[in-house]
Amino acid sequence: MAEGSRRRTFAVISHPDAGKSTLTEALALHAAVISEAGAVHGKAGRRGTVSDWMEMERNRGISITSSVLQFGYGDAVINLLDTPGHADFSEDTYRVLAAVDSAVMLLDAAKGLEPQTLKLFEVCRAGRVPIITVINKWDRPGKEALELLDEIERTIGLHCTPLNWPVGIAGDFRGLLDRRTGEYVRFTRTAGGAKAAPQEVLKPVDAEEREGDAWVTAVEESELLSASDADLDLEAYLAEQATPVLFSSAVQNFGVRQLLDALVELAPAPAAKPTADGGERPLDAPFSAYVFKVQAGMDQAHRDKVAYARVVSGVFERGMVVTHEPTGKPFHTKYAQAMFGRERTTVETAYPGDVIGLVNANALRVGDALYVDEPVRFPSIPSFAPEHFSVIRAKDTGRYKQFRRGIEQLDQEGVVQVLRSELRGDQAPVLAAVGPMQFEVAAYRMEHEFGAVVSMEPLEYSLAMRTTPDAADKLTRLPGAELMVRSDGQALALFVNRWRYTTVKRENPDLLLEPLVGSS
Ligand code: G4P
Repeated sequence: MAEGSRRRTFAVISHPDAGKSTLTEALALHAAVISEAGAVHGKAGRRGTVSDWMEMERNRGISITSSVLQFGYGDAVINLLDTPGHADFSEDTYRVLAAVDSAVMLLDAAKGLEPQTLKLFEVCRAGRVPIITVINKWDRPGKEALELLDEIERTIGLHCTPLNWPVGIAGDFRGLLDRRTGEYVRFTRTAGGAKAAPQEVLKPVDAEEREGDAWVTAVEESELLSASDADLDLEAYLAEQATPVLFSSAVQNFGVRQLLDALVELAPAPAAKPTADGGERPLDAPFSAYVFKVQAGMDQAHRDKVAYARVVSGVFERGMVVTHEPTGKPFHTKYAQAMFGRERTTVETAYPGDVIGLVNANALRVGDALYVDEPVRFPSIPSFAPEHFSVIRAKDTGRYKQFRRGIEQLDQEGVVQVLRSELRGDQAPVLAAVGPMQFEVAAYRMEHEFGAVVSMEPLEYSLAMRTTPDAADKLTRLPGAELMVRSDGQALALFVNRWRYTTVKRENPDLLLEPLVGSS
């Protein structure tokens, strides 16, 4: 299907502050969606905080929710799925990574691989997502380029195959050596990087004349790379064994066009998706999509629930009636929307690789399939191992009904996981999260959206293992451990720390204790 093959659906994974928001702006700027950097994203104090939605989020200057940015670039259609940068919201990020075909791993040249990057990289690896690496902030002093490649290879075992090579060390970014053509792409700085940086392409002789030693060094290092088999290897990239590497200064719009070109040329287009029964849904099958994220209360003006679904096959047309696979019920798509930061536009048509926002989608849950004509179910989206646990209670017991409704809703959206045990009773469920800030979001929404003021009591557990309900007898008698049942019926054994878990496991070899997906 031609429309599908034009799509490039990807996300940027990075540690907070590596420059993801800046790069997102720069990419959109280059594709001429916006005329001035700063209009799409931004943090507190910066102009136009379009992707921020909650008071809390604005105060903290972080981006909690994800938005989807779609823009045309030449013949291609780019779908950039934004992910929350803060480590505490990684559960959400994981979900987004289940909806992309590739990822861009963005590193700060001075910092290299940072903890959050590594965590997200592991998710990409588990989901078999190919990765293009961008080394950003080259305009600032940082590590040596070869050292950074070495770090990537040693730490995560991805073979680095740079597409371009910086001319000038970190802190003296003059331009890029295009390793495939041998030409020099020279950048010109603009005020604040607000406009797409003009670039000039020079032949090697002219480059040497202009840049002298900086050019010679770049050429020598590039030759060294070729000698050690570090030229582009498309197959190895698609097999997640190698990563094409590019250098950039997102803030100055340097190297951004090169990234767009690399995405269009190398990154995989949407392909047939495996189905839950072991088959495949080809792109040209009738319409199908799966929900990867459900979100409510996005902003005051639109207090409703939006399910984000990624189109797998066929053509989506607004107004069509699709079937919700788990219930077999019809779902009307009159209000399908494309999400662009806080702005919403109505989406009329969508193709494989696109993301549609379905409004008032109360019945839809993460992982659900939607289809027309030919029924389909997709493999479930893994939920990640929680590391933080907190008891939640309604402060005003008279508002228990609101409390219960709120908990149910947050659970359904996957904002937190909800655990219960006979011991604690229904009035005091335990919330489980990847990061503690998810609890703040939960408490805020319980109060402002559901009218139930809550109290939170953090528990000392930090590890959850899959177990069976009959483990309750043993675990309740052990200190530093407890059995809880998640709302999907899965029994979880909670432990205060890994050491406690190891001891319990050793002393009770017949107890089933297995890691959840995403445990480290
Ligand atoms: P994030 O979304 O990954 O968290 O990072 P963000 O884009 O917000 O960038 C974090 C900081 O790094 C910002 O500075 C941003 O301007 C800066 N930055 C991003 N890319 C580059 C780059 O290529 N070179 C340099 N030198 N800086 C870069 P800030 O001081 O936090 O904000 P601001 O006041 O400058 O906007």
